[in-house]
Formats: sequence, C-alpha cells, structure tokens
Amino acid sequence: MPSNGLIWEDNVGKKLLIKNAAELVTCRGIAPKTGAAMADIGIIPDGAMWIKDGVIRRVGTTAEVMDGLDAAGAEVIDAAGHCVLPGFVDPHTHFLFAGNRAEEFSWRLRGDTYMQIMERGGGIVNTVRATREAPQEELLATGWQRLSSMLSFGVTTVEGKSGYGLDAANELKQLEVMAQLGREHVVEVVPTFMGAHAVPPEYKGRTDEFVAYLLETVLPLVAESKLAEFCDVFCEKGVFTVEQSRQLLLAAQGMGMKSKVHADEIVSFGGAELSAEIGAVSAEHLLHASDEGIRRMGEAGVIAVLLPATAFCLRENYARARFMIDHGVPVALATDFNPGSCFTESIPLVIALAALYMQMTPAEIVTALTINSAAAVGRADRIGSLEVGKQADFIILSHPSHLYLPYHAGVNCVETVVKRGQIVHDIHFI
Ligand code: NIG
Ligand code: FE
Repeated sequence: MPSNGLIWEDNVGKKLLIKNAAELVTCRGIAPKTGAAMADIGIIPDGAMWIKDGVIRRVGTTAEVMDGLDAAGAEVIDAAGHCVLPGFVDPHTHFLFAGNRAEEFSWRLRGDTYMQIMERGGGIVNTVRATREAPQEELLATGWQRLSSMLSFGVTTVEGKSGYGLDAANELKQLEVMAQLGREHVVEVVPTFMGAHAVPPEYKGRTDEFVAYLLETVLPLVAESKLAEFCDVFCEKGVFTVEQSRQLLLAAQGMGMKSKVHADEIVSFGGAELSAEIGAVSAEHLLHASDEGIRRMGEAGVIAVLLPATAFCLRENYARARFMIDHGVPVALATDFNPGSCFTESIPLVIALAALYMQMTPAEIVTALTINSAAAVGRADRIGSLEVGKQADFIILSHPSHLYLPYHAGVNCVETVVKRGQIVHDIHFI
C-alpha cells in the first residue's frame, strides 16, 4: 500500500495481521510504571498481532494469534527477524515555531550560556518575534515537515507547547495551528498552553503584570477555545517564580487544564516540589531537582519527563534518572525539540544518551518512550502499549531486539511505522 504516509485514510474495515516477530514488546499497562516495573516490558518471542478498524484485537505468539483466525482480506506483515514495539510518544516538545537561533548556538559553542543570551534579549523572545510575524500557513508548513521527521523516528504521538506567542492572539494562533496539524497529519498532537514561557518585550521588567495579563485575559480565552489539554510554566530563577507558577497552574487547573512544569532546568529552584504539591501530571527537565523534590514527586506520582538531548546541547550534567527510578518516580523520555536549547527531534540521540549517560537500561528506555510517555500526555489508557483494545500504533525495527536501540548508537532503527492500523511510514517505500 502506502504512500508517503502523511495523509489520513479511512481505516474502518481495514484488517492487518503482523506475525513471526522475533520479539513483540508489549509494554503492557494503562498507568505509568515505577521502580522494577519499568524494566518489565512484556516481551513475546515469535509475536503476532491482529488489528481491525485501527484497534488491536489479538496479541500473543504467532501460534496463539493465528489459532482459528479468519484473516481473509487482511494485509499481512511478516516481521520475521524484526522487533515490534509500541509507537514512541514524545511528551515534551516546542516543535511549532518560526525562525532559527543558529547564530545563538554558535555563541554557545564559544562559551556563552543559555541564560546569558536570554538576559541580553536573545533566546526565547527572539523566536517569539519570528513566530508573531509568521503567517499561519508558514507555521503549518514547517510544523508539518517537523512532524514528518519525528514520524520517521517512530513517533506516533507528540506533545507540543505554545509559548512563542506570549500574547492572546499569537498563543491562540500557535494552538490553532497545532490543532490543525493534529487533525490532518498522522502524528497525533497533544497541545499544551505555555504562555508563561518567557516575559515578552512589551512586559520587560514587569513580570507580575504579565502574569496578571495571562491570568485575567489569556488563560480564560485559551480555556474557552478548548485548544489546550495541559498548561506548562517555565518555573526558573530569573523567569517565573514558584509562587507565580503555582498561581498560573492552579488557575489553569480550575479551567480544566492539567499541569506540567518546566522544573529545575538551570538551577535547583523548587519546581519538583511544586509539581508534587499541585498534583501535576509531570515535571520536566529536572537536571537540578533536589533529593526532597524527587521524593515528593515519587509520593505524589508525578512523572519525570527527562530530556537528555537538552543537557547534551547545553553541556550540562544529566538528570538523575537512576535516583528517580529507585525512589519510585515514573520516568519518561522526550526530545524537547525547540529552536534554542535543543534543536533536535532525534529519538536515537535521546536513547543513546539515556543509556550511556543516565544509566537507564534498554528496557527502561523503552518504557520511558512508550507507556510512561503516553501517561505523561494523559493517554495511557489508549496508547503506549500493545494490548487488546488499544489503538494500533506500533513500529517495526530493522533489528530483532529492542537491545539494538542504544547499541546501534545514534542511528534510526525504525523501518516501519503504523498509526491506527495503517502503515504510514516505511523505508522500503521511500
Ligand atoms: O525546554 N526552558 C524553556 N524552554 C525550552 C527552551 C525554549 C527555547 O529556548 O526556545 C526548553 O529548554
Ligand atoms: Fe522545554
């Protein structure tokens, strides 16, 4: 069949059989996994799956799935010698923006820090200027290309944050474009409102007034538009205080948006503690999260969304994944794809760094990119694992085992991507 894989086709009535997989990794579960459970990824050797109408109907060994099955009219994939996994979920990105910050990156290479560039008027507000000027069609076109690139790495669902508009009209513009991309592109988009990403130039030095503007004007409009499932705040020294972040996130909760927090990215600032206090779904970054903050996240069940490619690009130390896993915090992994701190959508890079520098095992990495990241975007009941009743989002690797993901360092191991039972990307068709 397919196609460039980028246009939705109707999947009703469609049947798909996948059989003889050297390893079918189920990642079974409908909730985020912690501790030792993160390493239990439910491998079925010689695995198979039967899919109808985009939904998984049978999962098991090839013999079990084939037993009494009427596969007439089905498309059949023979996955002998290949590993099958749930589609990856990238639960933290800022993929929708205009312009670029290539020059800032070159300044960082020669020693300037991310915060120094932000303090002298560059950084996020630089992208805000370009994004405000960009017409919707331009954002749509670049967003489309970026989603297609992510799809090629096996990403079937992506979270995207606003935060390059920083006023009502432009935040809504970003959210509208993400909604359109989510409807039209095969990659599912989970929208997050991040109006508190930076203080825009027109409010420079008046952060309290900007927070009041967000609370009184922008948040209610975003809530009314129903264009955001989550609200996120850059809770960081020199950006938004813990108190301002608390105020914004609780107000957003009151309007139906779940919470995420950019926490303890640059310095230890109490973001992890805040995420536990307000019942956030996730705290993200956490490079400098305190022991106490991590313990509280474990108690409150807050998911740690870790972003090793950002630490890599900022030349910072990596988040303490092992300590978090050992303290009962469910860990997810994401790219943080954005034009500033981490201009990469590379899942292979994230996997290599998590394995080599964060002491995560290959199985834990798989959990962190599937069921735990599905939970971080509020969809663990529907995606993130290969089980009867779940959406048939899965990927086929060019290798027989998930162990190759970090082993084939930095290389894309994904051959085929299936979204809702449809082959939407396949290297053999390119
Ligand atoms: O996750 N820390 C804040 N936000 C992004 C960077 C965004 C940007 O620099 O444009 C991050 O690192
Ligand atoms: Fe981010």
